This record gives sequence, C-alpha cells and structure tokens, in this order.
Amino acid sequence: MQSSTKTIQSLRGMKDIVNEDSILFTYFIENASKIAEKYGFSYIETPLLEETALFKRSVGESSDIVNKEMYQFIDKGENDVCLRPEGTAGVVRHFVEKKLDRAGGIYRWFYYGAMFRYERPQKGRLREFHQFGCEVFGVNNVYEDANIIMLIKEILDFFGIGFTLKLNSLGCIECMPKYKENLIKHISTFKDKLCDDCNKRLLTNPIRILDCKVESCQKLLINSPKITNSLCSSCNSDFEKLKEILNFNNISYEIDSNLVRGLDYYNKTAFEFISNEIGSQSAIAGGGRYDRLVEFLGGKSTAGIGFAIGIERLLELVKIKKQKEDFIYIGSLDESSQNKAFEIAIQKRKNTKTYIEYSSRSFGKHFSIAEKLNCNIVALIGENELKNNTIFIKNLDTKEEKNIALEEFLVEK
Ligand code: HAM
Repeated sequence: MQSSTKTIQSLRGMKDIVNEDSILFTYFIENASKIAEKYGFSYIETPLLEETALFKRSVGESSDIVNKEMYQFIDKGENDVCLRPEGTAGVVRHFVEKKLDRAGGIYRWFYYGAMFRYERPQKGRLREFHQFGCEVFGVNNVYEDANIIMLIKEILDFFGIGFTLKLNSLGCIECMPKYKENLIKHISTFKDKLCDDCNKRLLTNPIRILDCKVESCQKLLINSPKITNSLCSSCNSDFEKLKEILNFNNISYEIDSNLVRGLDYYNKTAFEFISNEIGSQSAIAGGGRYDRLVEFLGGKSTAGIGFAIGIERLLELVKIKKQKEDFIYIGSLDESSQNKAFEIAIQKRKNTKTYIEYSSRSFGKHFSIAEKLNCNIVALIGENELKNNTIFIKNLDTKEEKNIALEEFLVEK
C-alpha cells in the first residue's frame, strides 16, 4: 500500500488539550468535583457511545441536536449508535436500566467528559467539547432547584467568574399544552414573515421559536404570550417559591420567558448562566428540571433535575481573567541600583506576580527579556531613579512609559 506523506490534522472543531490548557482543565475538574461532592454528589461515568434511540427519546426528535448534529453511524453489529451529544440521557439510561426508579430513594451523580455535536465551529463552539454536569433523581422539591443553582454559583465563584443567571419556568403537562396552543394561534397570524427554521418549528416544537436567533423573528415575537403568565397554580407557586429562595440567598437572576433551552426534556425550572465576556457563544452552563424524562425512557415517573457547564467556555473566562493579572518585571540599569531593585521586588511580590532580573542591563535588553517571560509591566531602577526616589515603568501592552514616585509604585496593587 502506498503511504501518503501528507500530515494528518485534528478534525475541524476538535482540539488537543495540552500545556497550560491541560493544567487548567485538570484544576477545574478537581475543584468542581470537590464542590459537587460537598453537595452529596458521587462520580458516574457512562459510555461515550450509546444507542441513537436514547437521544431521540430524550433530547427530542425536533431538537437541532438530534436533527442535525449527531455523530451517528451503524456499527459492525448493525446497531444504530451515536457519540453522546450531552450527558443527561446516559445517566437517566443508567438509572432506568438499574431499576433505581422502582427501588425509590434519592440519587445524585456528577460526571465530566467529552460530548459531540456536529455544529458549525466558531469561537466557543466546538464539535468535541467537554461538560461537567450533575443530575439528581427523586427530589420533587423546589429547594433542590435552588440548591442546584447555588452549586453552579459556587463553582463559578470559585473560579472568579462573573455571570448573569437567566431563569424561566416551562410549566408542566397541565399548563404547557394550553400555552403552546395560544402561542401557535398568535404566531400563525405572521408565520409567513418568520424564517424557514421557525416555520418548521411551528409544526415540530413551537416554543423553540421563542429563542430563534434571527433578529427579524425576534422583532415579530415581541408581543407573544409569555409562559410565565400561563402557569398552572402548582407551577406558579413553585416558580414564586424558587424566586423567593434565590432572593433570600442574595442570588440575582433575570426572568427570561423566551428561555426554552435546546433540549426537549425540560419542564418547570429552566436556567442558563451567561457571560458577556466570551462573545456570541455566551452560555457557560444550562439546565433545569426534567420530571418526565425517566418515563420517556421507559421508567417509573421520577423527578429529575440537573445542569451542565461547558468546560471550554468556562476556561476561556478563567484565561481572560488570568491575563488581566499583572506580571511585573523588575530590573536594575546599573550595579548601584541592584540592591534597591531586589528590595522593591520583595515588596511587590506580596501582592503581585513578580519577576526579578538580578543582572543590570540596558533598557532594551530588559524589555526583550520581559516580553519573553510574558510580563506586562517593566519596572526599572537606575542611578537617576535612585537619586530622585522614582522608578521607570513601561506597560508592554500599551507601550506607555513614565517615571513615577517609588512610593506610589509600591502601594499600587
Ligand atoms: P446544553 O445547554 O446543551 O445542556 O449544554 C450545556 C453547556 O455546554 C452549554 O451551556 C455550553 O456551555 C456547553 N456547550 C454546548 N454546546 C457546546 C459546543 N458546541 N461547544 C462548546 N461548548 C458547548 C445540556 O447539555 C444538558 N444536558 C444540561 C443538563 C443537565 N440539563 C439537565 N441536566
């Protein structure tokens, strides 16, 4: 066989995790796992490959994930299988397969690993990406919804990540069908003006029209009926109670009655954690209640709730934050200032990441070493600075140079 010399690259939308990224990745998993364990979750690992029917029956045949994005194939044993596009379905399959629905009780599991969606790759949107998720079975109490939200908040807080929490209730089999009927009636009056995808959704899953990203559709939908005004009394009182618990615990949220989520299994509470620092793919975590999913997969009715964090998107934010931290380079311009430079470095290191160059060098040489080390601030001291009690500062990002009082530099954080 003739062997090709062409180098082989990773597939589009898939990437290796190495060096600084892999350090961050394992650091995230370690700490998110510890937090989940504190909340009583234990680790579960399910296969990457599952029967395609599992996702059709859970994520839903009308969802984009199942419709357009599955890595689906027939294996050598003629089985219709696919790489998991998300983690919830596999965990529910395990729950039903092990007859835990019949045994009763409460189960809390966390997982992490690769998920696959054949999407159009862009910043923050990969074809192979990683999620950290948690799933709870057997707790039909809105305090658990709050608990899950607090757990995600604790993970995001641990990594110093700011977010907006968007919250909605998708009702239940009592109130959702009536709402859908009203929505279809309303939308039908202008359906010709909606995009092709929305017209398809009108037939398959009309509530997905609400979160269509096409601007002209959004404009048409402004006066659509809101699910939060159509909830039955049980869903409404749960939603009010959830808001009350979040308020009491100082967790801010925004009600977004267009938040329907891209997976069909949700009822009642649905939420997303959004960041405004990572561009258009801004959802860092999402989840909600899925009280009927166990039944959809052939089990006995069991309450369920969970979430998943997109690890790549979250780590992008950790990196942005890290980049914002100063890394100061301190050096001397002549031998008479070496002692002072050393003393300044000791002071600065108390609050800021600091590098000290022991040998005296010219400005240019210091700048090039600092650049190689990825320092963003260069602080240099020479005979003149020593005499005037000042220090020379250059910001390598903005290229700004100035001499400031040494005292001012030492108190700056
Ligand atoms: P999801 O909203 O589809 O929910 O995904 C959760 C998170 O995974 C998103 O918020 C996002 O951060 C990340 N994510 C999704 N697609 C991509 C992609 N193509 N590239 C990079 N990151 C991505 C679920 O998957 C549900 N299973 C969550 C859940 C668990 N609900 C209940 N339990």
